[in-house]
Order: sequence, then structure tokens, then C-alpha cells
Amino acid sequence: MKKVSKCVFPVAGLGTRFLPATKASPKEMMPVVDKPLIQYAVEEAAAAGITDMVFVTGRTKRSIEDHFDMAYELESELEAAGKQELLDTVRSAAPSGINCIYLRQQKALGLGHAVLCAAPVIGDEPFAVILADDLMDGEPPIMRQMVENFDHYGRSVIAVQDVPRSQTQSYGIVSVEAGGPDFQRVTAIVEKPRPEEAPSTLAVVGRYIFTPTLFKHLRLIEPGTGGELQLTDAISALLADEAVLAFNFDGTRYDCGSKIGYMQAVVAFGRKHPEIGTAFEAHLRALDLPRK
Ligand code: UTP
Repeated sequence: MKKVSKCVFPVAGLGTRFLPATKASPKEMMPVVDKPLIQYAVEEAAAAGITDMVFVTGRTKRSIEDHFDMAYELESELEAAGKQELLDTVRSAAPSGINCIYLRQQKALGLGHAVLCAAPVIGDEPFAVILADDLMDGEPPIMRQMVENFDHYGRSVIAVQDVPRSQTQSYGIVSVEAGGPDFQRVTAIVEKPRPEEAPSTLAVVGRYIFTPTLFKHLRLIEPGTGGELQLTDAISALLADEAVLAFNFDGTRYDCGSKIGYMQAVVAFGRKHPEIGTAFEAHLRALDLPRK
């Protein structure tokens, strides 16, 4: 099996939960302290040895392309002003040695459709998928943990997390066979089940590695939950062809597609930020003082 060298970033969703912030600019460009979500995601992929970043974009997503491009005027001005540190920060937005490829999803027909749009670029290779609004914090980075697993077993891998039963309707939920502590074989997957119908509380989160067989199933699926072409339905069909592993990653996930998850990420990353961490921590402590 070939190495995973390509990652798909589906960034064509409408981001309705963050309106009006996402009316004219993409959810994936929202900053956590000083970096947009999509930059954390690309850095995570690069740390896993992935070189080809494939963005599936839509309308209002131009700023993502600009973010990973050269900012000619800004860089010249910073250079002329001798602001080397800022210049380095601007230039490091795209990790060195990566290729950025942009595709358009004409209509937001669902996550499954967005991934299928990348098929001509991926070809007959295994590939990763990262949903940038799931911000992952872990060491080693979560995608690297997954690539190591894939290199060892050669099976599609999906990251899962235990969630409260009351939340199953927000996720794809998997059933698994008994396995090791880190990963188990998936036996079934269902999109957004009601709590009383959910086969388990193991929820799929935004990190995947797939064999190219997935595309065969993405081409065949019909609109599912919410009238969208669901990635979950293609994974469910894939299970009949190949083993798929559920991976219990080592780290923390912040659901930055939701307001509360986003705020939790801002606080967690703010506290450990090299520049403002100490001052921010002091601010948080002051907030905890009993009121007079
Ligand atoms: P979400 O379910 O979070 O949808 O998509 P969304 O539109 O981004 O946000 P809300 O729910 O309206 O607030 C999961 C991921 O799939 C991408 C999104 O960009 C996000 O990364 N996506 C979804 C697409 O690229 N195309 C689609 O048609 C749907």
C-alpha cells in the first residue's frame, strides 16, 4: 500500500451555526488566538508527512487561497520596515514543502459529495481527510498517530471519541468489535441516530484515512440524512468490502463548528500561547475571584 501523501480539506460548507460571522468569510478562517483553524489543520497534516493539501472550496472561500499564497505587498512592506519576525510569521502560514491544490464544490451537497470532488486529484492512492472545524490538540499530532496506524495495518482509519448519549444526533456513530485499547474494527456506522436508537456512544470526529475504494461507494450513494450525500453512508458501504478501524486518538478535540467548542479552544490555546499565555492565565484567575 502506498504512503499517505495527500489530504482533503472539505471547506465548502455553509457554516450556518456561526452566522453572521460566516456570512462573507469562511468558518475555517476563524482564528484561535492568532492562527486560523485551517492553518492548524494544514500544520497537522504536514506533521504527519503529508505534502499535497487538497482544498474543496466554495463561494466566499477565497481568503483560504490567499492565506496559503504569498502576500506580496504585505511581505515587501514588512521587509522594508525590517520587521523580520512578523515577516517570518506571515511566510510560515504554509509549512515549507507543501503543494496546495484548490477544487470547487459548486453546491454544498454534503460532506460525501465534497470528498468525491477530490477524486480526480487523489487517484488510486490512500488519502487523509481533515475537517478543520474539529481542532485537535495532541502530541504526537492526531493525524500522525493515524498515519502510523495506517502504515502498520493498511486499513482505512476513522478517529472516534466517546460522547454523552444525549449528543449522538450530532455525529456519525459506530459499532465496533472488541479490540485493542487504541483501535477496534468497525462493524456498522450510522449518521446522527437518536439517543435511544444509537448503537453506541462512539462518535466519528473530523479525521479520516481512506483507501481509494471509498470513491467507488461515494459515487453510488443517494442523498441521506438532511438530504445530503453523507460520507457516513459511503463508509457504511465500504465496510462490506474492507476492514475499517475506529481509532481512539490520544489528545483533545475542540468542536469549533459550535460556539461553545470554539470558545473552549480559544481559552485552551490562549492559556498556553507563548506570547500571551501568562497574562491570559492571570486574567482568568482574576475572573475567578469572589465578587465583593
Ligand atoms: P458541517 O456539518 O459542519 O456543516 O460540515 P457546515 O456547513 O460547515 O456548518 P453548519 O453546520 O452549517 O454550521 C462538516 C465539514 O464538511 C464540509 C464543511 O466545510 C465542514 O468542514 N462540507 C459540508 C463541505 O465541504 N461541503 C458540504 O456540502 C458540506
